[in-house]
Amino acid sequence: MNPPLDRRFFPVVERCIYLNNNSTGAIHAGAQSVLQRYYETLCDWRDDAVESWWSELQAYRTELEGFIGAPSGTVVTDANLSTLMGRLLTCVDFNRGREKILPTDLAFPTIPFIARAFRRYGAKLVSVKTDVSSIDDIQLAESFVVNTAIVCLSHASFTTGSLTDIRFVAERAHAVGAWVVIDAYQSLGIVPVDVEALDCDFLLGGAHKWLCGSFEMGFLYARKELIPSLEPAATGWIAGDNPLSFSDQIAWAPDARRLEAGTPLILPAMLSRPGLAALRSAGMGKVRQHSLDLTLQIMNRAEQDDLEVLTPRPSTKRAGTVAVQFPNAETACARLAAKGFVVSYRGALRIAPHGYNTSEEIDQFMDALIDVRKELE
Ligand SMILES: Cc1ncc(COP(=O)(O)O)c(C=O)c1O
Repeated sequence: MNPPLDRRFFPVVERCIYLNNNSTGAIHAGAQSVLQRYYETLCDWRDDAVESWWSELQAYRTELEGFIGAPSGTVVTDANLSTLMGRLLTCVDFNRGREKILPTDLAFPTIPFIARAFRRYGAKLVSVKTDVSSIDDIQLAESFVVNTAIVCLSHASFTTGSLTDIRFVAERAHAVGAWVVIDAYQSLGIVPVDVEALDCDFLLGGAHKWLCGSFEMGFLYARKELIPSLEPAATGWIAGDNPLSFSDQIAWAPDARRLEAGTPLILPAMLSRPGLAALRSAGMGKVRQHSLDLTLQIMNRAEQDDLEVLTPRPSTKRAGTVAVQFPNAETACARLAAKGFVVSYRGALRIAPHGYNTSEEIDQFMDALIDVRKELE
């Protein structure tokens, strides 16, 4: 069966067996002409070029909104997830009886790091312990107690790809009046995501992994009803209601633009559009099914060859990554790369196929992995 994403548009598949999409996804070939066009615009610069750049940026945001089922005016972009997470926290007054920020120990390290930095503004970091490879949703939900300002969850873990039942946890978080902030970097682009179905208040992600886009492109969705109450202390002129008047900005932009700061990143948004368009036209249902098939193939083969699989087996409990563990896995990762099999190591070997990979590639990769493991015994 043909993979749902057309391989002809992902040049990396000609160069190696690329199963590294949880680290960096394959850029779409359409990005090449975007780079050239950007350069020509700069060579021929006139100030009104900003208008067409602005509309490209806006188009990417609108496409992202469509991709996650969000209403118009609820997504903002910036250089990375950390910048947006930090800015979001500057909207919160932690001295009004709600001081706790609750990530889990499966969070990407930037989340507790940022939360800890907000201790000087009254926040308290409480990390919720989970099972090493997956989150026990019930245990997580029960750990919410009063005074929680923010529950911050990874939709999919960056190490094992285990999925959290966000809706289940959100219901309990909302019952104690907390905001639910989702780090969807490891799910968007490989698992269908609908912010209304998840019932989250904020969702963060970035383009350069499963969304086959550019580096330097993070984004934040904010629930429409909460936007009027958001007044970030880390801000800049673009967040005002009429920045192009170049006058003192008193009022906030009425939509998610109030979460911007200064001159926005244009090129990464432009470079990220072709990959997102490819995912939208392939359909996330097909991409997800293909991913589930390939990851199951990896798990079956790993178990057959006695590799420890850290990723949960039920399809409702895993996103697009399979993490396997064995002695010398980090060295194996480097050896595999030298042979043209690209994966990544973060405490375990992470194998992350996408919609352009084939079942034959998985077989070839697993053969190479088993050989390398034997060499290292
Ligand atoms: C789950 C998750 N969150 C966040 C990040 C990175 O965040 P940032 O865009 O701030 O570098 C990554 C990976 O790099 C990740 O896997």
